[in-house]
Amino acid sequence: MHQYISDFANYAGKEVTVKGWIANIRKSKTNLFFSFRDGTGFVQCVASLEALGDEMFEQAKNLTLESSVAFTGNVVQDERQEGGFEVQVSSMKIYHIADGFPLAQREKDLGVKYLEDNRHLWLRKKRQWAIMRVRNQIIMGIHEFFQNEDFVQMDAPLLTGSACEGTTDLFETEFFGQPAFLSQSGQLYAEAMAMAQGKVYTFGPTFRAEKSDTPRHLAEFWMIEPEMAFYENEDNMDLIERFVKHVIGRILNRCQQELKVLERDFSKLQMVVDKTFPRITHAEAVEILTGRQEVNGRNAIQIQEQDLEEAKQRIEECKKEISERETAIKAGMKKGARKFNEAKIIALRGEIENLEHKVRNIPQWIESAKNFQHGEDFGGSDETLLTRVFDAPVMVYNWPAKIKSFYMKEVDGNPDLVKGVDLLAPEGFGEVIGGSERETDINVLIRKIKEHELDQNDFEWYLDLRRYGSVPHSGFGLGLERLVRWICNLKHVRETIPLARRYGRITP
Ligand code: 4AD
Ligand code: MG
Repeated sequence: MHQYISDFANYAGKEVTVKGWIANIRKSKTNLFFSFRDGTGFVQCVASLEALGDEMFEQAKNLTLESSVAFTGNVVQDERQEGGFEVQVSSMKIYHIADGFPLAQREKDLGVKYLEDNRHLWLRKKRQWAIMRVRNQIIMGIHEFFQNEDFVQMDAPLLTGSACEGTTDLFETEFFGQPAFLSQSGQLYAEAMAMAQGKVYTFGPTFRAEKSDTPRHLAEFWMIEPEMAFYENEDNMDLIERFVKHVIGRILNRCQQELKVLERDFSKLQMVVDKTFPRITHAEAVEILTGRQEVNGRNAIQIQEQDLEEAKQRIEECKKEISERETAIKAGMKKGARKFNEAKIIALRGEIENLEHKVRNIPQWIESAKNFQHGEDFGGSDETLLTRVFDAPVMVYNWPAKIKSFYMKEVDGNPDLVKGVDLLAPEGFGEVIGGSERETDINVLIRKIKEHELDQNDFEWYLDLRRYGSVPHSGFGLGLERLVRWICNLKHVRETIPLARRYGRITP
């Protein structure tokens, strides 16, 4: 058997064999320094001429990036090294010498389209490795939370005969000659299951055919949908808060190494665990978004205006630094220094590009926020503005009925509002959870099904849940990839799932 990097604490001073791939190479005349990865971690393996002898050292020199190899050698504790260890190689077995690896450069320098085209290889890069490990721990944390709370995990079908979240974004397929759809949500089925088991959750893929090429939309994503009998919306919100805190707490405990790779600010996540999530109505949210109401002295519009000013200033600084470095290069310098300066210039140009994007967008965001009317649905930028005034996730409840799904329960005495709740993540991430208390009045439901232009025949089974022992109940849906994006602080959901399916992307 061979050993794994994640176990090295048990092997300090001992000999191991590790099997994996070459992630990076530095060479001197008598030493080869390999950054080596085995899936469980990264470690430096040092192959010296002295230890390997002429013949094996010559072979080791042939190892290219991503070549697969087994190294045998001593594990030496070394605090300066990544992970705290180094392997001093005494022998090796080469499995395969890799062709020139198409992703040899840094992610930053490759461009995102190229990376997506090569997603099957991109997954090997350290940042992507870290993200997938966080995703894995998030999944474990989700199951841990619900299992500890005596929820029963049940699976909803993926092929369905009807819409749940509106008819506009359904992927249509064919089921033995009948029209059928890929499921947008397991919720309606989860409601049936909750009437049998009390507290359930589904965890499965869901599909949305929106033509949205945005940083938060996938066409295929994973949703976790708890559904609880005898829960009102307040209970639902309590559960959401405990649930999110539990999952993030677990990530802080278990994924320190990964979060460091991702340069994630731990304090921002710790804040989520420590702070109470504010709860505001949709009407209050509108007041905050338009800048008419402040939160702890923070004004949503002013924050954007400051961001805009800062971005403009920073662009000027970057431009100045570029021209200084260019002048210095022209004046002449050693090759190493020149390369260093050229790399800096490339990085600065990248920064300017991002900032210019902001400078173009922010005025539009401000415009849209200022003109926002009561009763409307928030767009992506509205959520970003709204969440910036809070440092914890915020729950928005009591939504306008006309922008929410047919199944949401009406607010007592105000049929224009429904008992929906969205959880908006801080730092501009926006909606990660959508849920509600469910309508229990069969007559209201029948009316709503008509209003939403759905076919009542498709929902007779759903109406049965209101015919036989109807009870108040609530639930919500968490978008797994949106949670991964927030926890890992990623620009785009494309990096949150092994192989993204999103508007314009179905390969590799
Ligand atoms: O808000 P949504 O549409 O709610 C439902 O589907 C309900 N049936 C859930 C329930 O009450 N059981 O979706 C729930 C969550 C969103 O908050 C978001 O995190 C995620 O699913 N989501 C998406 N994630 C990625 N790409 C998309 N296109 C998404 N659409 C929704
Ligand atoms: Mg939603």
